[in-house]
Amino acid sequence: MEKIEKVKIAPSILAADFGNLMDDIKSVEKEADFLHIDVMDGHFVPNISFGIPIIDSIRSKTTMLFDVHLMISNPIDYLAAFAKSGADIITFHIETVDDPASVISQIHALGKKAGISVHPDTDVHRIFPYLSEVDLVLIMSVYPGFGGQSFMPAAPGRIQMVREELDRIGSQALLSVDGGINDKTAPAARQAGATLLVTGNSVFGDKDPAEAIRRVKECAG
Ligand code: DX5
Ligand code: ZN
Repeated sequence: MEKIEKVKIAPSILAADFGNLMDDIKSVEKEADFLHIDVMDGHFVPNISFGIPIIDSIRSKTTMLFDVHLMISNPIDYLAAFAKSGADIITFHIETVDDPASVISQIHALGKKAGISVHPDTDVHRIFPYLSEVDLVLIMSVYPGFGGQSFMPAAPGRIQMVREELDRIGSQALLSVDGGINDKTAPAARQAGATLLVTGNSVFGDKDPAEAIRRVKECAG
């Protein structure tokens, strides 16, 4: 049996109070493993969040690792800018590029970790050819674009398929799950094989975000 590592948590600042963004980031700094940063362009997803200037400005104020989730149509055009702004992991959607292998190489050439994500309507097998190259796989458990949605019942099965393939090829990539994660849904994601849980509203919507992270970690195991 492999050693079971404790689940990691990446709070999503999409659910933070942008008027007090640094206060919210500081509230999770000690408990969280990564800071999840959702970039939306109003084109790949029907919503606009924020972009490079925000990442730039928070970068100098925290040492947290930045897990940047690009929900944008032309990620290749912006990889260098996101790398420069201080992203540690850059995750793109497979639906947005023609040549995922080349995007992964470009992210690595910029000195960053590369993540690949898959929309809930996309066959999860489409990412399999790239799993040996990536550092993170992000399974969406809601439709990308908005926080506060419910965890999709189909998600655990998809997580499990990816888990099995990662194990088969001997990959140590993080298996991240994004959308609707709270202390009720975290156990299913974890049991299916997730190693990193993205939490938006369940953490920043709590009066004590650090305690909310501890609770999710405790439930997920
Ligand atoms: C959705 C984003 C998520 C979102 C998660 O498009 O990718 O990261 O912020 O928020 P919750 O946890 O509230 O579903
Ligand atoms: Zn996200």
